[in-house]
Amino acid sequence: MRTKFTPALIVLSLFNFAVIAQNNPPIVLKIDAAKAKAKVSPTLYGIMTEEINHSYDGGIYAELIQNRIFKDDNKAPAHWSLIGTADLGSISLENNQRINDSLTVCLKLSAANASKGNRVGFANDGYWGIPIRPKTTYHASFYAKGDALPFTVSLESNDGKVLATATIKPLIDKWKQYSVTLTTGADVAPSANNKLVIATQQPGVAYFNLVSLFPPTYKDRKNGNRIDIMQKLADLHPTFLRCPGGNYVEGNTMATYYDWKKTIHDLSLRPGHPGTWKYRSTDGMGILEYMTWCEDLKIQPVLAVFAGYTLNKEYVDPAGPQMKKFVQDALDEIEYITGDATTKWGAERVLDGHPAPFALTYVEIGNEDFFDKSGSYDGRYAQMHDAIKAKYPKLQLIATTKVTSRVPDLVDDHFYKLPQEFEKDIHHYDNAPRNGPKIFVGEWAARIPNPVPTPNMACALGDAAWMTGMERNTDLILMASYAPLFVNVNPGAMQWRINMIGYDAMTSYGSPSYYAQQMFYQNIGDVVLTTEMSGIPDVPYIPAPPRRAPGDTTKPKPVVPQTMQSLSYVVTKDTKKGIVYLKVVNIMGSPQAVQINIDGVSGINANGTAITLAGKPEDTNTITDPEKIIPVNTTINGLNKNFSYTFAANSVTVLQLHVKN
Ligand code: AHR
Repeated sequence: MRTKFTPALIVLSLFNFAVIAQNNPPIVLKIDAAKAKAKVSPTLYGIMTEEINHSYDGGIYAELIQNRIFKDDNKAPAHWSLIGTADLGSISLENNQRINDSLTVCLKLSAANASKGNRVGFANDGYWGIPIRPKTTYHASFYAKGDALPFTVSLESNDGKVLATATIKPLIDKWKQYSVTLTTGADVAPSANNKLVIATQQPGVAYFNLVSLFPPTYKDRKNGNRIDIMQKLADLHPTFLRCPGGNYVEGNTMATYYDWKKTIHDLSLRPGHPGTWKYRSTDGMGILEYMTWCEDLKIQPVLAVFAGYTLNKEYVDPAGPQMKKFVQDALDEIEYITGDATTKWGAERVLDGHPAPFALTYVEIGNEDFFDKSGSYDGRYAQMHDAIKAKYPKLQLIATTKVTSRVPDLVDDHFYKLPQEFEKDIHHYDNAPRNGPKIFVGEWAARIPNPVPTPNMACALGDAAWMTGMERNTDLILMASYAPLFVNVNPGAMQWRINMIGYDAMTSYGSPSYYAQQMFYQNIGDVVLTTEMSGIPDVPYIPAPPRRAPGDTTKPKPVVPQTMQSLSYVVTKDTKKGIVYLKVVNIMGSPQAVQINIDGVSGINANGTAITLAGKPEDTNTITDPEKIIPVNTTINGLNKNFSYTFAANSVTVLQLHVKN
């Protein structure tokens, strides 16, 4: 008989499971530290990124001015406002003063009635504010032309305080780039309630374009990244960066796919483009910036190339001329990244300021082509595969779904699931075939339906349980990256709920999932050890009701109660350092003691370290409470080859055990 899974039954089941747990035999984990089951992929854990939730513009890309080339709205200068009253002057968009094919629209300032003491100008409100800190130098720059008016460029608080100011000489009637540095004093209070103001006290007309303001950046990169967010990534210890998407590489249409050639060279040559997540991208984060981002973190890129399929399901004929163009674009892109100065595109990169080629091992052909029901991916993949392998035989190619025309080196699997679905699915890859392509889990995340920017502890438990399965199967899974990586938490900035790292203009925070991943990324050996755990109590698994089409009035199928393991685990060993890393995820709401036996070693140090992330499933970190759930390190002592450890309720734990061979 099938049981209907009512709330009362769930409570009863939980009670029964608690009783069973009490009466269970002891939980025993046997580790053979001399018997490696598999080598750990050196690139197992990485990060995945695209322009979503203001990941770059208003995120990691440090530019502080929103709508710097005035293309965000073709009706009005969005994010710009007039300084001075309407009787003194006005601002408007101007289409007849183009600088080049990229900078086609500019801002016209009419300061007809400006006079000494009556300034007229314009201000930008940034990405949900302009973060200003004491004793900090900012670089402002812009293109301008017009009447011979002198201008002041200043950082001002929204309540009218001037925080730093500089002047520029009178304009000339020809486009010219102007730059100033603005340094704040020690008395400036850190705040985002500020604006950039450019104003004059003389009457006349002037035009402005590419108005930019940069704070100090990570490793002082020009056109670089935000320091706090880069530091969070550095602290994660990733090994690769999958870029530039995701949906973002596909584009919504053939007119707006990610055309990498429009994202390189000087900023004045980047027109930007409409992204896939409902806002325009400046492309200040271009292909070179992705590469320097990798360089700064000492990681390698996993480059996704556009492969002729867009989100509105347009696709190109695999045998047609358009596909040839996209294949050539991909070859050129690889050459821009890896070529030396003697190659056409390598020379372009040298001119763009980076003489040394970048290392590249992995190239992904498209994104989520399983959505392409036309069947064109096999042919599109084959064309890309053949051309890239012919020129770059060492590159490892990743298909985004199964193909039969060629054998890809890896296939990219994506998983977005409820936490309990991940917890139930920890054995997903245990019996997967080992004789085909390797696996790249290029996007995965435990998600709850709540419209929140970042995951809670329940998600972190699901994530960590899933990671134990990926790590155990690292002979097959060469790489894995959570997605999405970033979210700007300001109202209106988010398109996708549940992201790893949140931020506003001033600060950033890691979610519990960030910390769970950090624990996994930082604590991994070079081999997976042979292990066996017995006596693991089960807990109820409540499957999500099957998704129903709108208007479906048929009787929903009853939800069938199931069970799943309350503990998941993986053990690796750093054979050089002699450290065994035992990771255990306890999804039960009560602590669980495990008897741990370590064989294959002559002994273990009496002292080890436990790193624990624990909290109520509903608890989370936020921009105002960023460290409610963080890992806690404790020294554990009295260890020997047989010891007992109690894993906290709702916890992710890493035990670092120093073993003697
Ligand atoms: O991570 C968000 C989106 O999910 C990605 O852009 C896409 O590849 C997937 O569908």
